[in-house]
Amino acid sequence: MFNDPQSIDSMLIDGAHAPTYPLIANQITEKFKIKKGTAIDVGAGPASLSVAMARITQLEIYAMDLSPEMLEIAQTSIKKEGLENRVKTRMGDVHQMPFQDEFADLVFSRGSMFFWKDLTTAFREIYRVLKPGGAGYIGGGFGSSAVRKKVKNQFKRKGSRSYKSPPKIHVDTLEIAVLEAGIDNYLLINDESGLWVLFKKQQNYTI
Ligand SMILES: C[S@@+](CC[C@H](N)C(=O)[O-])C[C@H]1O[C@@H](n2cnc3c(N)ncnc32)[C@H](O)[C@@H]1O
Repeated sequence: MFNDPQSIDSMLIDGAHAPTYPLIANQITEKFKIKKGTAIDVGAGPASLSVAMARITQLEIYAMDLSPEMLEIAQTSIKKEGLENRVKTRMGDVHQMPFQDEFADLVFSRGSMFFWKDLTTAFREIYRVLKPGGAGYIGGGFGSSAVRKKVKNQFKRKGSRSYKSPPKIHVDTLEIAVLEAGIDNYLLINDESGLWVLFKKQQNYTI
């Protein structure tokens, strides 16, 4: 199964995906310029994006995942990077997030939404935990076609299992879920960087 920790472990930690995270972290900070405060990484897996975000910001980040095995792996990576003070693991399901209303300045997530059972509930929860003025950057992909190619080539070169794409979500399905969740200030991206939805919990802001 694609979100089986055993398989994710080797896919996401053996370095093949490594160039993806700094690129996406840069894209998130470039877009929203949120570099301080509190952030949540939803479906953080081994916390690679949390770590990349912590390196270029002063954010306090909660790497949330529903898999205890993934959180254990995440904890090891965070410790290795010496980031325990700013990146904390938290067990939680996106459909019922263990955070109070208006908790976070930023919620980001890569590669997890494809496994969520109810996208509308998930986006409603993400929106609930965002502070007014907070932002969401949710989706999946490699950030650019160049990195995507690099990752796939590395898989081939290593002679390891060929790269498996996660299940797909149609862009219209994603947009319907976002609207049903009551998010009106959003931007959909569906290009070589992946499928992403960016939003602000703020009126009078052009995203
Ligand atoms: C493909 S991995 C992506 C991991 C990481 N974000 C990355 O890009 O390297 C998907 C992760 O989403 C987590 N996940 C799946 N459904 C979830 C849910 N309902 N709530 C929280 N995490 C979830 C899985 O346990 C898994 O760690």
